[in-house]
Amino acid sequence: MRFISGIREMQQESDSLRAAGKRIGFVPTMGALHEGHLDLLRLSRQHCDVTVMSVFVNPTQFGPNEDFSRYPRDIARDAALAESAGCDILFTPDADEVYPPAYSTWVLEENLGNTLEGRARPTHFRGVTTVVAKLFHMVKPHCAVFGQKDAQQAAIIRRMVRDLHFDIELIIAPIRREPDGLAMSSRNMYLSDTGRQEALALSRSLRLAERFAADGGLDAGTLRAIVENEITRSGAVTLDYVAIVDAETLEERDDISGPPVLLALAARVENTRLIDNTILKVETIES
Ligand code: PAJ
Repeated sequence: MRFISGIREMQQESDSLRAAGKRIGFVPTMGALHEGHLDLLRLSRQHCDVTVMSVFVNPTQFGPNEDFSRYPRDIARDAALAESAGCDILFTPDADEVYPPAYSTWVLEENLGNTLEGRARPTHFRGVTTVVAKLFHMVKPHCAVFGQKDAQQAAIIRRMVRDLHFDIELIIAPIRREPDGLAMSSRNMYLSDTGRQEALALSRSLRLAERFAADGGLDAGTLRAIVENEITRSGAVTLDYVAIVDAETLEERDDISGPPVLLALAARVENTRLIDNTILKVETIES
């Protein structure tokens, strides 16, 4: 595995790889790697000849009272994990180079980013779209892999790629979970043992919702009540939102028949904000 930090060096390496006819796959991350991130790497390897993973804790996507300074950073551990999963190039740009002095240019998606996470974290997606666009220009990938864990982020990146004509194929990987159902997240390490147990209410509520849909339930209000009830039952989890929306446009849905519905939720456990989601599949019977 090669280590690259310089932006110019990364661009030159990508140019040589492209000239040699190699297909470049890209997995952007903020480090604190877990099996979910490694799944993205493995998926990239299936689709591409060379896989680049970036580790960059992007300051502009954290709000003033969020966890930027305490976000877990351990590059030696990340490098070992990335290499074990077959990463070819680990790209770790410096914040000073990613954001040059007096930078004043942003990439802003103006629709999908206003709801759900965007409502709770008003400047978050502006930071995400800006850094992902920058990273795309640095790595010049043919294909980029993102996780369904951040469903809204995936929808926004898909929109940005379309709107700004990035010639990049997007692949969205399914959510990787712990054996007990908890969606893997770098932020899970903030939780105590008790908090971690309480956090299982999130994935449990999604399973109940999937069962409701599989049994023919369609009404979004009933679905919401099932999820809210399961999450708030113990009192240890503070619910931020439960959203029942069109998976592509993120517009609210009253019932779950028709195009795929995203059931997304955010909640706080011991002051750590956790998100989880599922796509509800409804069998449509052709008459
Ligand atoms: P980060 O939270 O490190 O996540 C990097 C990628 O891993 C994202 O595409 C995310 O959706 C995916 N991922 C995280 N947990 C996952 C899980 N349990 N299963 C499957 N995929 C999972 O998302 C970011 O970083 C940043 O916003 C970034 C895109 C790198 C821009 O800074």
